Amino acid sequence: MRFENRVALITGGGSGIGAATARLMAREGAKVVVVDLVSDAAQAIAEECGGLALTADVADRAAVEAFVARTAEEHGHLDILVNNAGIGCFGRTPDLEPETWERVIAIDLNAVFYACRAAIPHMTGRNSAIVNTASISGLGGDYGFTAYNAAKAGVINYTRSLAVDHAREGIRANCLCPGLIATPLTAGAKTIPGLEPGWHDTIPMGRAGTPEEMAEVIAFLASDAASYVTGAAFVADGGQTAWTGQPNLYRYAAAAAEGAVA
Ligand SMILES: NC(=O)c1ccc[n+]([C@@H]2O[C@H](COP(=O)([O-])OP(=O)(O)OC[C@H]3O[C@@H](n4cnc5c(N)ncnc54)[C@H](O)[C@@H]3O)[C@@H](O)[C@H]2O)c1
Repeated sequence: MRFENRVALITGGGSGIGAATARLMAREGAKVVVVDLVSDAAQAIAEECGGLALTADVADRAAVEAFVARTAEEHGHLDILVNNAGIGCFGRTPDLEPETWERVIAIDLNAVFYACRAAIPHMTGRNSAIVNTASISGLGGDYGFTAYNAAKAGVINYTRSLAVDHAREGIRANCLCPGLIATPLTAGAKTIPGLEPGWHDTIPMGRAGTPEEMAEVIAFLASDAASYVTGAAFVADGGQTAWTGQPNLYRYAAAAAEGAVA
């Protein structure tokens, strides 16, 4: 029961990594507040967790301030903030509409600032934790991920800045950098022939991660077990970023030994 009597607000809690995190924290005693753009999704997960559901667009600063205020009103304070809501985008610079760029930056980056700005006054001095869901896409470039790459890199360095600024107030701030995780966000990969096996092939573990595996990392970062961890960008990617991208020589050698091409 790592989160007994802890109040945890989770954005994007209606699906995928956020939903798994809400479930795990609730199982371990947290009073969860599930925020999502999709009202039914937030409601369903909050009901499962015995928590509070709030519907909001995290890109809307006033809406963010309102859901943080509502959480503080309900519980008197806030211990854990998980900034997890996010969207992707696809398109190289000349083809990307500025409105798409702006929306991705608004949801994936600006919203993190809005929520931290609103929440920190309710967290100060409580041995609290902020966990931001960044991405390995914030550590390097991807083909056609433009705004997503920029936003997630921003989240990683903003997390470091938060960690430095608030360390002496008892607030830790860390981010999770997932690799490919099987959620509705990445389900589209199944619809493009060859993409999913090709993607898995770039991951040393040979598979996508699960939302539950990410929830475990978020929970660790939010828990007292991580009491000396702040400013970290914790990678959980099945080894993807540990690999330089150079060819798997063993595979080519094995194929050559059989007179085939890898
Ligand atoms: N799935 C992956 O492979 C992967 C990899 C790296 C990082 N991430 C990050 O993990 C986080 C969660 O993604 P997921 O894979 O669980 O996706 P998901 O689509 O399953 O869940 C995201 C949730 O965020 C909500 N949301 C989207 N825009 C919102 C908005 N404007 N306001 C409020 N809620 C909003 C959605 O309704 C959804 O419930 C995102 O920040 C994503 O960028 C995911």
